[in-house]
Amino acid sequence: MSANTSAERSSESHNDELTTPRTKAASTAWDSHWLSLGKGRTRSFFGIGSSAVRHLIFQPAVRFFLDKYFPSEGVFVETGCGTGESSASVPRRERQFVGVDFSTVALGQAQSTGCFDSLLCADLFHLPFQSGAVDGIWNLGVMEHFERALLIQSLAEFRRVLKPGGTIVLFWPAEANLSRWIFGPLELLRSTVTRKPFRFFPDEVSRLKSRKQASDILREAGFATLEIDFSPRTAFIHMVVVGRSALSPTP
Ligand SMILES: C[S@@+](CC[C@H](N)C(=O)[O-])C[C@H]1O[C@@H](n2cnc3c(N)ncnc32)[C@H](O)[C@@H]1O
Repeated sequence: MSANTSAERSSESHNDELTTPRTKAASTAWDSHWLSLGKGRTRSFFGIGSSAVRHLIFQPAVRFFLDKYFPSEGVFVETGCGTGESSASVPRRERQFVGVDFSTVALGQAQSTGCFDSLLCADLFHLPFQSGAVDGIWNLGVMEHFERALLIQSLAEFRRVLKPGGTIVLFWPAEANLSRWIFGPLELLRSTVTRKPFRFFPDEVSRLKSRKQASDILREAGFATLEIDFSPRTAFIHMVVVGRSALSPTP
C-alpha cells in the first residue's frame, strides 16, 4: 500500500499500535462506517450525498487552504485521510502526499483516488515518521472525534513529526454548523422510529465552540495560530484551523 518517502520510519513497528484494544475498536467502527456508505453502484443514499458534499464543498476548500499554506515542495501528511476524496484536487507541484488512516476499508478506496504518493495503515497517535521529517499535516473531519486529552496528545504527535515551523491545517467542524441542522433532525427521527440510537458518523465529542477555543488548544499543544476561518468557503461546516509549530524542536 505504500511507496516509501524519506520521512517514513524504516521499522514497521507502528503496526503494533493498531492492535491495542482502543485502536482496534475505533478502527472497526470506522470500517463499518465506510462499508455502510457502499461504493460504486452499491452506494447508499447517504454515501451519494456525502460524496457530493466532498466534491462540491470540501475539495475546493481543501485545495484553497493547502495551496495557500503549504510550501510548494516537501512531505505532507493527511492524518485520517479516509477515502481521500476531499483532498483529491490539491495541486501537487513538488509536494509528496502521504495518506494515513487506520481503516483498511477507507484505504482500499483511497488507492483509487490517486492523490497520494503513499498510503499507510497506522494510528495517528503513533505516526510512522521520524521526528522533524514532515513539512505539513492536514486533516478533515477527524479532530472532533477526540476528547480534549486525546486532542492534545494527537497534536503533540503532529508536532513531533513536523519540522520546526511546520504547518497544520485542520478542517474541524463547528458546534453549530450547517450540516448538524440537516443531520441532527434526521438522526433524531430515525432513532425515534427504530427505537435505536442512530448517528451518521461515530461520535463527534469535540466540535469547536469558538475561534478562541481553537487557538487555546493550539497554544497548549505548542502551535501558534496563523488563521481560523469560518466562512462560506466551507459552507459554515468546518472551522479551518491553521497553526505553525513552535520553532524550537519538540522537547
Ligand atoms: C470523517 S472521516 C474523514 C475522512 C476524510 N478526511 C474525508 O474527508 O473523507 C475520519 C477518518 O479518520 C480516521 N481516523 C480516526 N481516528 C484515527 C486514528 N486514531 N488513526 C488513524 N486514522 C483515524 C478514520 O478511520 C476515518 O477514515
